[in-house]
Amino acid sequence: MYRTIGVLTGGGDAPGLNAVIRAVVKTAIGEYGMRVIGIEDSFEGLLSPTKTRELTAAHVRGLLPRGGTILGARNRGSFVEQGEDGTVGKHHDVFQEAIKNLEKLGIDALVVLGGEGSLAIAAEFDRQGVPVVGVPKTIDNDLACTELTFGFATALDIATEAIDRLHTTAESHDRVMILEVMGRHTGWIALHSGVAGGADVILIPEIPFSMESVASKIREREECGSQFSIMVVSEGAREISGQQIYQDKGDRQHAPRLGGVGFFCQHELEGLTGKEVRCVVLGHLQRGGRPNAFDRMLATNFGSCAVRALARGERDVMVALQAADIITVPLDEAVANLKTVPFTSQLIRTARDIGISFGATDEASYHMSLECV
Ligand code: F6P
Repeated sequence: MYRTIGVLTGGGDAPGLNAVIRAVVKTAIGEYGMRVIGIEDSFEGLLSPTKTRELTAAHVRGLLPRGGTILGARNRGSFVEQGEDGTVGKHHDVFQEAIKNLEKLGIDALVVLGGEGSLAIAAEFDRQGVPVVGVPKTIDNDLACTELTFGFATALDIATEAIDRLHTTAESHDRVMILEVMGRHTGWIALHSGVAGGADVILIPEIPFSMESVASKIREREECGSQFSIMVVSEGAREISGQQIYQDKGDRQHAPRLGGVGFFCQHELEGLTGKEVRCVVLGHLQRGGRPNAFDRMLATNFGSCAVRALARGERDVMVALQAADIITVPLDEAVANLKTVPFTSQLIRTARDIGISFGATDEASYHMSLECV
């Protein structure tokens, strides 16, 4: 049994981080008599001079509904090196320094809350001898081996409410309103919020779009008497013959930032349809603030299960939601590939059945209709 465990929050923040920290602390102390050390600013807090503090039950009181993370987060730091060509690798000296500091601090094992990038760093710590259990965090819901990550459900609520609000103003002004949402290279937020909010067009990275196909959907709606349209565009969506659009390509200290496809579509659609088009970028509103009820529950369950996994001797695993149960899966499997929206997913089929356009070419649409179940 470990006497002291460390907990840290890696990558961008997501609603529910504090709820996980609370559950980790309560379970570790209350159930197993362990000490918990909070590591600040993601893995950076393990480098000299270290930034850590002991967390007791008193420190986590009132944390359940609070957004952000009391431990601070970093989404790129000293543990990842970015080459000239944009590829990322691991910086080996810093792992040695961090592991020595973990020994000095008396930390026997780590609970790491993170997305694919942070959990890949966590897996390296485990390979170098530090037992790790990961907790799947990201509003993007793009981690493999888990049906859901915490943070996604809250982001979805926020995006859906934004679509509801855009509907009324779009209708009043006979405009096309575009909502650009986050999601990096996957379209989970766009697809789910687009269906939940009744969008007419959803553009996701998994289905490259044709601007002409989007324009014809808007014209078709006009012919049927709807003078307004709602589009949800995932930040990673791209035209069939185009590239993803970045605000910033990133460097050693900063991860690349997607963004701009919404304004690109606005400009192109105005030209193709002659309609007034406006774009709203929802941005970090999707990440800030209180987690919803589902994320509080999921985060709490993940946090407790992570400590229980460590206590029964598991390591190099991530807690994961599968078929309404929390299980553990190998960390390497969880970070090997992003979980993208399958071309043939049921929700894509449903969306198409109710008339939502993905801006796909006729040929792609034909294949989708053959393969969807
Ligand atoms: O991975 C979470 C996420 O919010 C992505 O959806 C988005 O692309 C990215 O982080 C934004 O990062 P930053 O906070 O650095 O702008």
